[in-house]
Amino acid sequence: MGPLKESQRSSASLVVCNWKAYLGIEESVTLARNALALARSHATALWIAPSMLSLGSVAQAVRGSMVAVGAQNCFWDGKGAFTGECTADELIELGCTFAIVGHSERRNLFGETSASAAKRAHALLRSGLGVICCVGESAHERAQGHTLETILEQLAPLFPAPLARPGQMIIAYEPVWSVGSGQTPTASQIHEVHELIKTHAAQHVENLRVLYGGSVTAANAAELARAPSVAGFLVGGASTKLDSLKALLDTLG
Ligand code: 13P
Repeated sequence: MGPLKESQRSSASLVVCNWKAYLGIEESVTLARNALALARSHATALWIAPSMLSLGSVAQAVRGSMVAVGAQNCFWDGKGAFTGECTADELIELGCTFAIVGHSERRNLFGETSASAAKRAHALLRSGLGVICCVGESAHERAQGHTLETILEQLAPLFPAPLARPGQMIIAYEPVWSVGSGQTPTASQIHEVHELIKTHAAQHVENLRVLYGGSVTAANAAELARAPSVAGFLVGGASTKLDSLKALLDTLG
């Protein structure tokens, strides 16, 4: 990897808001309406992933606008005896255009594996929805020097992927130790992992977009986006308040 230039212009043109379970339904709708107003005055594309129960109301609130709405998870099968799950067809019915899969919170708290995340991703792709698949190493894996092999293991079951159109799948690199911690990798560390992801995926996908996620705020976005491979950010905490979301978009343009 070559050195990163101080003057490198940011290529980050997408902010995906992962609202996790931070907001209630009314709060989500209000923030989504305000976020739409922000999106109209900024060049950065804005996508929102509210909680499952807020999805329908948020999708309704921004319907027909430039703001895309997606889910934070989705089951791999269709209608059936799958208590507690939701199907890709339901997401489409609600007006969703994408879903996140394989988030580290799903992996660490709810037993998601790389194999099950890939099954979800493939079902979403087959249904025509976009997918953001999250990968990332733990603090221990990084300390042991196992970052790159961890990422490759997580990517392995995703490919080959049943892609119906270019750009349908996005990978988000989210180091587990960075999520919600205020700690971030350097732009060089991000670049190293992003290059690995792109190289691995290149046999299967052209021009894969790779995002960065983990403690992104207005204060560090410009520095993180110095990694030229960063196509955008997957943002948790800072996307759940209007002022911090506005500050982030102001930074990115
Ligand atoms: P934070 O931005 O709160 O660190 O969360 C990142 C994340 O998990 C987005 O999916």
